[in-house]
Amino acid sequence: MKTPRFLLPVATAGVLALSLSACAGGGGGTTGGGGGDAEANLDSRGPITYVQGKDNSNVVRPLIEKWNAAHPDEKVTFKEQTDQADQQHDDLVQNFQAKNADYDVASVDVVWTAEFAAKGWLQPLKDKMAIETTGMLEPTVEAGSYKGTLYAAPVSSDGGILYYRKDLVPEPPKTWDEMMEMCSIAEANNMGCYSGQFKQYEGLTVNASEAINSAGGSVLNDEGKPNLNTPEAEEGLNNLIEAFKNGNIPAEAITYQEEESRRAFQEGKLLFLRNWPYVYNLATTEGSSQVKDKLGMTALPGKDGPGASSLGGHSAAISVYSDHKATALDFVKFLIEEEQQKFFATQGSLAPVFGSLYEDQELVAKLPYLPVLKTSIENAVPRPVTPFYPAVTQAIQENAYAALKGEKPAKDALSDMQKSIESAGAGSQ
Ligand code: GLC
Repeated sequence: MKTPRFLLPVATAGVLALSLSACAGGGGGTTGGGGGDAEANLDSRGPITYVQGKDNSNVVRPLIEKWNAAHPDEKVTFKEQTDQADQQHDDLVQNFQAKNADYDVASVDVVWTAEFAAKGWLQPLKDKMAIETTGMLEPTVEAGSYKGTLYAAPVSSDGGILYYRKDLVPEPPKTWDEMMEMCSIAEANNMGCYSGQFKQYEGLTVNASEAINSAGGSVLNDEGKPNLNTPEAEEGLNNLIEAFKNGNIPAEAITYQEEESRRAFQEGKLLFLRNWPYVYNLATTEGSSQVKDKLGMTALPGKDGPGASSLGGHSAAISVYSDHKATALDFVKFLIEEEQQKFFATQGSLAPVFGSLYEDQELVAKLPYLPVLKTSIENAVPRPVTPFYPAVTQAIQENAYAALKGEKPAKDALSDMQKSIESAGAGSQ
């Protein structure tokens, strides 16, 4: 019997590079380095801008203040984007396309590395621009790399967590079926049972992939080919479809991204929530949170035991168009220093990229969920790695969304996903 992917050790699971025969040989600009000048401005210093999505946990500003106090001639300005992954992506694409020299350092989601590197927008982090990655969790380094070269330095990792109301749920569920049975508790308490992120955007790709992985299926097979026409994938997607139909997932969850679902949980409207670790900090500290002392955290539920998260996270990349790459490099190195990593963890409950920090006594004492998070990240399944990722995620999102809205049976949605992913490479040439 084939070992379910979520039981494979990370080294075996590796990064699933999507192999699209149509893109062998590559279209224009798929080999990297074709955009700006990767040799230019390497020694140049001066003010720079750091671009990142919404600083939900207020960790970026204090760090930039700290940096600026120590570097008065190389100050960093923070350009804060929205809290929505797709808008962040599109903003970066527009500014890289415009060769904007003001986007010196950008926070790059793990799924954008291949696309941006292939377009030649990211400075290869090698030779003079090299970054020390020893001790970093392997999946985070792989996620910042493209074709064997590091293009983005891992800053924070991300793994899905099942948040639950420990005041209402005596023993957290290990499987999807157990969780669905516990929805009677939600009903008795007049609240919704479960939510993840189901709006049509990157978060839906994350959630649909997790449903498929956790039921023993996979988006790609071991050869990197789309693998969606399987009973396991169908079962996974059907789990979500059913839960929407019977109300275990409240209808409004079809509009939820991370923040909407976090707020619903914090307001006491949900028994279970799938979200990233950043929620811990806000749910336990925000004045308005109704779940401060009621927050349980465990692994995502699977078929016969724990499920498998999609690997998330962000890395810091230097734009090839930056005028001050020496400063940019020092700033990136600063972001990944242990002191800053600890700050991200304690202030923002972000997932560190160094394995040792998950065993750090001081951190574990403050953040008791660290072992759960480490396991989530180690067993996480990367989303497809390809320069054509926008078309791939579009295929997953569109079809999963139609299925969740009851417009397509799971089987048809998966077979359409399969076809669209197969042609994604060809369409992008
Ligand atoms: C989180 C994850 C990122 C993912 C995004 C989806 O920010 O770190 O990898 O793509 O959520 O919304």
